[in-house]
Amino acid sequence: MIGVSTDATSVRAQLENVHASLREELPGIERVAVAVYDDRTDMLETFIHSTDGDAPFALYEAKLADVPSLAELARSHEERIIGDLEALRRSPAHHTRRLLETGYRSSYTKPFYDHGELFGFVFFDSQQTHYFTDTVVRHLSLYSHLISLLIINALTPASMLRSAVDIAREMSHLRDEETGAHLDRMSRYARMIARTLADREGLDDEFVEFVFLFAPLHDVGKIAVPDRVLLKPGRLTAAEFEIMRSHVDKGVAIIDKMADSFGVGLAQHIDILRNIVQFHHESFDGSGYPAGIAGRDIPLEARIVSVADVFDALTTRRPYKEAWSNEDAFALLDDLAGKKFDADCVEALSSNRPWVERIQDRFRLTHGAFEGFHEAYLEDL
Ligand SMILES: [Fe+2]
Ligand SMILES: [Fe+2]
Repeated sequence: MIGVSTDATSVRAQLENVHASLREELPGIERVAVAVYDDRTDMLETFIHSTDGDAPFALYEAKLADVPSLAELARSHEERIIGDLEALRRSPAHHTRRLLETGYRSSYTKPFYDHGELFGFVFFDSQQTHYFTDTVVRHLSLYSHLISLLIINALTPASMLRSAVDIAREMSHLRDEETGAHLDRMSRYARMIARTLADREGLDDEFVEFVFLFAPLHDVGKIAVPDRVLLKPGRLTAAEFEIMRSHVDKGVAIIDKMADSFGVGLAQHIDILRNIVQFHHESFDGSGYPAGIAGRDIPLEARIVSVADVFDALTTRRPYKEAWSNEDAFALLDDLAGKKFDADCVEALSSNRPWVERIQDRFRLTHGAFEGFHEAYLEDL
């Protein structure tokens, strides 16, 4: 059972290779970093970096609108050279201050695009002032192009897979809560938990980002659950419960089939996805399904997703219940910490209340859709 993708072909290892060959020509470039952009939230997230010595930051996020200099680059498609970061010491930008504190003195930044849409930024940093001369920048344009292709290729199969699932879901007339705002929120709770646990668990940005991308697919197997069970308004019989629970095995089968057709681009990260789908109904004390595994035998990505998923189910209105307050939902999760849920994941969520509220503000609760499934799910707690 694997949690974190550490194989040599991971995107991070590829970036480190590019950085190493770049340094043979341009030894003054001590850091290369990539941030990816989410146009739905206007957030910029550090994705990966390759750094000699101390990293100025990992797992950093900022709203693009709050960083006007980058927003301007995104609009103009221009690159930016800062010859002496010292001149910006009084800048309010956290990003700039951290760079200075860790010894960086000059930087080169380039936005990159996919089909005309902003995909992210590549940052090159040097500890020498005025390192980015015309000659250096000419060299770098090739490398920044290569790096942006690497990132787009790494992330596109994941988003293609998500689109494929969205289409399949629409075709199968699955009209439950697993569309829309629930997935927006729960995937962000999952990312927040992963990010909070990152230091302790040794998770890199790449792992955190893939948990976010794949969390919405946890219930993909429900596509194969018949409507008479999935959409049944009342209580499920024992036999219907069994059918409902089969969504886990059906989900794993769907993922394996899709992984085959999407090929190697996704292969490196498919374990994160498969673990989420396969183990999101396991319980920390071993009382869950389908395997009945316990504790840290349950892959971390699945422990994270189950907390994120249930928290959102509790705090949203369902046909059979009002939305619980965050306080009440945290209290229940606390009660179940160490039993149903990993206590560290619960704590990572409940210790970040302002962050939780920001996610709730950004992705307003939607009402009115038929939401039968989580009734069964909650009864199952
Ligand atoms: Fe599920
Ligand atoms: Fe869910």
